[in-house]
Amino acid sequence: MPVPHDVTDLGLAAQGRARIEWSNRAMPVLRSIRERFVAERPFDGVKIAACLHITTETANLVRTLRDGGAEVRLAASNPLSTQDDTAAALVAEYGVSVFARYRTDRATYRGHIDSVLATPPEIVLDDACDLMTALHTDYVDLLPGVRGGCEETTTGVVRLRAMAAAEALRYPVVAVTDSPSKRLFDNRYGTGQSTVDALLRSTNMLLAGATVVVAGFGHCGRGVSERLTGLGAQVVVTEVDPARALDAVLDGYTVLPMAEAAKLGDVFVTVTGNRDVIGPEHLSAMKDGAVLANAGHFDVEIDVAWLAANAVEHHVRVRPNVDEFVLADGRRLLVLAEGRVANLAAAEGHPASVMDISFAVQALTVEWLLARPETRGGAVLEVPREIDQEVARLKLAALGIQIDHLTEPQAAYLTSWDLRV
Ligand SMILES: NC(=O)c1ccc[n+]([C@@H]2O[C@H](COP(=O)([O-])OP(=O)(O)OC[C@H]3O[C@@H](n4cnc5c(N)ncnc54)[C@H](O)[C@@H]3O)[C@@H](O)[C@H]2O)c1
Repeated sequence: MPVPHDVTDLGLAAQGRARIEWSNRAMPVLRSIRERFVAERPFDGVKIAACLHITTETANLVRTLRDGGAEVRLAASNPLSTQDDTAAALVAEYGVSVFARYRTDRATYRGHIDSVLATPPEIVLDDACDLMTALHTDYVDLLPGVRGGCEETTTGVVRLRAMAAAEALRYPVVAVTDSPSKRLFDNRYGTGQSTVDALLRSTNMLLAGATVVVAGFGHCGRGVSERLTGLGAQVVVTEVDPARALDAVLDGYTVLPMAEAAKLGDVFVTVTGNRDVIGPEHLSAMKDGAVLANAGHFDVEIDVAWLAANAVEHHVRVRPNVDEFVLADGRRLLVLAEGRVANLAAAEGHPASVMDISFAVQALTVEWLLARPETRGGAVLEVPREIDQEVARLKLAALGIQIDHLTEPQAAYLTSWDLRV
């Protein structure tokens, strides 16, 4: 009798299992944590509600929590990022309750979050705060039972900080995304490579010589810009933060306001976590054939609704994950994955080797949250430095890389203030 679930097709489970095992090969840190959890069972009977992208890498995180004794219920954190075979395998092969289907409407997406919360959680794992928002609005009666949570992405942490400032947050949440081990590698190398992957899979275009406008030079935007430069693209950056813009200039990029960049780009990638980054005035100025992709979490960065309302023709899926909008003046604009997070919706998300680091941080942080003395009250917490260092150490060990260690005099020197001789 399968566990409670709502997935597209359980018949895809064998394929999903094979892909989950493939990712597992590139996740040595998570594997070593799982081995310890099997022996120690740190989560025996703990109920975990999770809202994450349903990818093979997430499946390996969930296996790790389950093998540590947790009962996990999982919903998707985006209606287009679910890998149906992975969801099927989690249910049929690993006994995890999953509520997620690829290409759901908003009501079903929300219904899946409700299904996860049908079991009151003690720990909540979120990727952009939809689950935690539901808890704090429609499930307030469950809040006293929640001991803590983890947030995986920048957009979610922005929302949680707003909740904490308004004194609305009711339990401690660790900003996993802010840990150096997550941010430096996942946001930068993961988003960088997988966004390029989405562009190539969807269009098979030549990026060498193309002008690509990257909106937002944060951790993700820097990664996207670096990978595109490596392929020979001319990268133009748009920013609103003067320091980040200066950083981009000194890295050698052209920096322009979007109103100027809009006229130049062959390709646009938004990755700001903000809304209305590409609006009607920009879309009206773009070249014929421009390709638009969003890699920020929500589909609010590119005004696809304006395109849909103003196009004289809308060709749905001229290639998988590519919609073509023909405007009255004859220009065609091509939008990837309906303006949703393209590297997950039109590719497979980050490589497993990068998610190994992020999800190892996540697994150890859940263990840390449960071992803390019970504290209620909302706050956004940092990942403890020891966890961050431990994950980096394990990853280096898995890669067979050794580093130097501080000598005693060096350690003393770095913690002294009176250096007179
Ligand atoms: N696609 C993925 O796999 C993935 C992975 C990690 C994070 N994310 C998401 O990507 C987004 C960015 O994450 P990050 O970690 O790089 O955040 P960040 O805060 O480091 O960077 C965002 C940058 O965008 C800039 N910005 C804001 N509004 C802008 C505007 N109107 N025009 C130009 N620039 C603007 C900010 O100044 C900032 O420098 C978030 O939504 C995050 O949740 C996606």
